[in-house]
Amino acid sequence: MAEHFVLCPVMAVLLLSMDVLGAAAGVFKPPPAMYVFGDSTLDVGNNNYLPGAGVPRANRPYYGVDFPGGLPTGRFSNGYNTADFIAKCIGFVSSPPPYLSLLGAASCGGGLLVPTALTIGVSYASGGAGILDSTNAGNTIPLSKQVQYFNATRSEMIAAAGSSDAVDALINRSFVLILVGGNDLSAFANAERARNRSGADLESHDAAAFYGGLVSNYSAAIRGLHALGVRRLAVVNVGLAGCLPVARVLDATGACAEDRNRLAAGFNAALRSLLAGLASPSSRSGLPGLSYSLADSLGLMADTFAHPLASGFTDVANACCGGGRLGAEAPCAPNATLCADRGLYYFWDSVHPSERAAALRAQAFCDGPAQYTTPINFKQLVHMA
Ligand SMILES: *[C@@H]1O[C@H](CO)[C@@H](O)[C@H](O)[C@H]1NC(C)=O
Ligand SMILES: *[C@@H]1O[C@H](CO)[C@@H](O)[C@H](O)[C@H]1NC(C)=O
Ligand SMILES: *[C@@H]1O[C@H](CO)[C@@H](O)[C@H](O)[C@H]1NC(C)=O
Ligand SMILES: *[C@@H]1O[C@H](CO)[C@@H](O)[C@H](O)[C@H]1NC(C)=O
Ligand SMILES: *[C@@H]1O[C@H](CO)[C@@H](O)[C@H](O)[C@H]1NC(C)=O
Repeated sequence: MAEHFVLCPVMAVLLLSMDVLGAAAGVFKPPPAMYVFGDSTLDVGNNNYLPGAGVPRANRPYYGVDFPGGLPTGRFSNGYNTADFIAKCIGFVSSPPPYLSLLGAASCGGGLLVPTALTIGVSYASGGAGILDSTNAGNTIPLSKQVQYFNATRSEMIAAAGSSDAVDALINRSFVLILVGGNDLSAFANAERARNRSGADLESHDAAAFYGGLVSNYSAAIRGLHALGVRRLAVVNVGLAGCLPVARVLDATGACAEDRNRLAAGFNAALRSLLAGLASPSSRSGLPGLSYSLADSLGLMADTFAHPLASGFTDVANACCGGGRLGAEAPCAPNATLCADRGLYYFWDSVHPSERAAALRAQAFCDGPAQYTTPINFKQLVHMA
């Protein structure tokens, strides 16, 4: 296979232009590539390529209303999303493109996957995805499958490059972003709710078993990535799940669902110790050479919601695009009502941050105050010797 890899003219041009487009000139020297894993917060269009009516998709107005061109791209945002702003902060123009968009385009030989994976990176993130394969099964690319897709990508990169050394060195210094868990948490909380359990029940033995399953599956995914050469891992924890409009609307007064917030905090504590253990040289279960940055989405949301105006938000409860109470009783669709000033709303739809909220999050995690990242921020992770 390796001997047969010859850059055809189309591909060579593409590689060149990607090099130019891939790095935002002079801002910050980007890592060799960025690979993205997770859910709708990071999805830049993978779900548009999945079959089935039940697949969550951001493929209709008013998604993308503030994106250049004003058209939906598959991002669950009015404009760019969290993955885009993190990519920008570390020196790229925007998120790497969705994996499934790179498979079909066989314009020349192997298509676009390999040249993209070698120069910019690839996004495997998929709306609805969970740490557990059972979360939204059949309507998403679960984390375990995203890792398999990365494995397949790496094999193609190695075949094209002719040896694994160059590819290993590239992946070794690449920036790998993961944000997942919110869908598992909401599936669990919704199931408990259907069984008329909430509040204290939600934090009982059920929750302990739930954390255990999540942590073991998350750990397996990180081990898999490490086995495939990943050494620089940026992880975002689960946010204030109970304060999403979709959760608040369950309460007659629109209050945050504190049981869901506590569930998120419990999972985040488990995630924090998982990462500390995996990156500890002295730990028996440690992964040699692994460095990480863990971003505190929950803490940032709590601080933002306590003082919304300090971040320029006048509304941190309602979805900008939606309908009914809190904008959470009808989907963000062409018949939805849009808020007047999207920059003033924390939530774009009933689940996802607005473009401005995404930008502020990315800034806090990438280059912001130390309290939102442990033990280093994303830029420091990229810059490490
Ligand atoms: C990969 O990175 C680790 C530490 O981050 C380093 O020790 C190792 O030599 C690197 N390997 C390659 C192939 O670059
Ligand atoms: C939950 O409570 C509702 C109303 O109180 C009741 O109609 C329903 O049957 C209950 N469900 C279960 C599984 O107990
Ligand atoms: C994920 O968790 C489920 C149960 O929660 C378990 O059956 C499965 O083996 C786990 N997968 C991995 C890869 O750990
Ligand atoms: C990657 O794929 C190969 C071939 O299918 C398999 O043997 C290997 O276990 C996979 N590695 C991981 C980490 O999934
Ligand atoms: C828009 O239409 C959908 C059905 O296509 C409906 O479920 C929803 O309630 C409508 N939204 C509004 C705001 O009326």
